[in-house]
Amino acid sequence: MAPGSGGGVSRRRLIGGAGAAGAAGLVLGAAGGAGGYAATRDDVPAALTTIGSTEEMFHGKHQPGILTPLQARGHLIAFDLAPGAGRKEAAALLRRWSAVAERLMAGRPSGDGAGHDTGVALDAGPSSLTVTFGFGRTFFDRTGLVARRPAGLDPLPSFSSDHLDAKRSDGDLWVQIGSDDALVAFHALRAVQKEAGEAARVRWQMNGFNRTPGATAEPMTARNLMGQVDGTGNPKPAESDFEKRVFVQAGDAAHAWLEGGSYAVVRRIRMLLDDWEKLTVDRQERVIGRRKADGAPLSGGTETTEMDLDKAGPDGRLLIPDNAHARISSPEKNGGAAMLRRPFSYHDGLSDDGTPDAGLLFICWQADPFRGFVPVQRKLDRGDALSPFIRHEASGLFAVPGGTAPGEYVGQRLLEG
Ligand code: HEM
Repeated sequence: MAPGSGGGVSRRRLIGGAGAAGAAGLVLGAAGGAGGYAATRDDVPAALTTIGSTEEMFHGKHQPGILTPLQARGHLIAFDLAPGAGRKEAAALLRRWSAVAERLMAGRPSGDGAGHDTGVALDAGPSSLTVTFGFGRTFFDRTGLVARRPAGLDPLPSFSSDHLDAKRSDGDLWVQIGSDDALVAFHALRAVQKEAGEAARVRWQMNGFNRTPGATAEPMTARNLMGQVDGTGNPKPAESDFEKRVFVQAGDAAHAWLEGGSYAVVRRIRMLLDDWEKLTVDRQERVIGRRKADGAPLSGGTETTEMDLDKAGPDGRLLIPDNAHARISSPEKNGGAAMLRRPFSYHDGLSDDGTPDAGLLFICWQADPFRGFVPVQRKLDRGDALSPFIRHEASGLFAVPGGTAPGEYVGQRLLEG
C-alpha cells in the first residue's frame, strides 16, 4: 500500500486509551464542526482521538517518515554546519537531535522536564510525528569524511527546465518533520532549530501540507493542488522488490553506515495553477494519462488497474498519449526505475503578480537516485506534457542513514565508525 493511502501501520501504535474511545473521537472529528469540538471539550477526561494518539516509532530498521502514511503537515529544514564546526560538533548535534526527536515522537516535552519546552504541543498526543535526518554532499567535506561519501551523493545533473534558487537548495544537513497536527509539527521544528545551537545555521526552510486523515470517508490516495490523485503508481511495501528499490541493502554500497537508509531527492516544484486551471478536465486528463475523478488510467478500469500503454481508441490514437506524464515516468518506460514519492503540497501566499506561490514539495525515496529520480527526470525534461504547467525552483539530494537502535543516534555509524 502506498504511504499516502492510509495503510502501513507496522511501525505505529495507538496510545492514551485510543481504542473504542479513540475511534469515537475520530468519528466525532470526521462528523465535524462545533458539535465534535464541544463534545471533546466537555467530556472530562477526554480520550485522545486516534489522530492525536498515533505514535510512530523513532527506532527501527529505517528512519521514520519514509514509510509513514502521508501526514497532514510537514516542515523541511536544511542547515549548514557553522564555521569552525566539524565532525565532533556534528556528532554532538546528531546526538542531541536524535534525543529530542525520540522524546517528541513519543509525545513528551522536548526539554524532558528541564523546563525548556515551549509548550506549543501541550495537550496533544504524538499525532504521528516523525523527524527524519539526512546528510548532503557538503556534509562530508565539512566533517573530513570525503572518503566515505557515497557515489549516490554525486551532484544531480542539471535539467533544461530547471529554474533553481541556490539559496533554497542543498545544505549540509536536512531534517524532514511530519505530523497530523500543525502545532505538534511546529513544536518539533522549533525544537530542532533550537537544538542546532551554535553548531549549525538554517540554510532554508519550507512548509507543506496534505489532506487531514479522516477528511475522506475511507482512506484514499492523496490529491495534489492540481486536483489529481497522486501516488497511485508508487511501489508498494508488499511487492517483493520494494525494499531493494527504496532502501540501501547490505553490500549495495561500500558504505555500511547507509544500510537500511535511503536517498531523498527534494524538489520544490511550483505549479502554474492559473494556466493549469484554464484547461478543460479532458485536456488535464490527457496531460497526466489518468482520470481526474478517480485516478483510473485513460486506457480503462479503476485506479489500481495497470495502464495499457498500447491501447488505442476508435480514432487509432493512443488512449494514454505519447507525452502523458504517467506514461513517461512509468517504470515500464524507464528500465524499471522506480521511486517512492512522498510529497507535501505547499502554498506560500501570492507572488507579486498575483499568482499563487503554490505547488509540490516533491520528495522521492530510492536506494540509488541515479537509477531512480535522475533517469526519470531526464525523460520528463525532454517531453512531459506536464512541463508547461510546473517549474522546478529548488533542489536537494540527501543520504538518509538507516534507523537507529535504542541508545544509538542517527548517523553514529558514520560519525564514529
Ligand atoms: C508538480 C509536479 C508533479 C505532479 C503534479 C505530478 C503528478 C503525477 C500524477 C498525477 C501521477 C499519476 C498518478 C500516480 O501514479 O501517482 C504521477 C505519476 C508519477 N510521477 Fe509525477 N508529478 C510531478 C512530478 C514528478 C517528478 C519530478 C517525477 C520524477 C522525476 C515524477 C515521477 C512520477 C512517477 C514515477 C509516477 C508513477 C508512474 C507509474 O508508475 O506509472 N513526477 N505524477
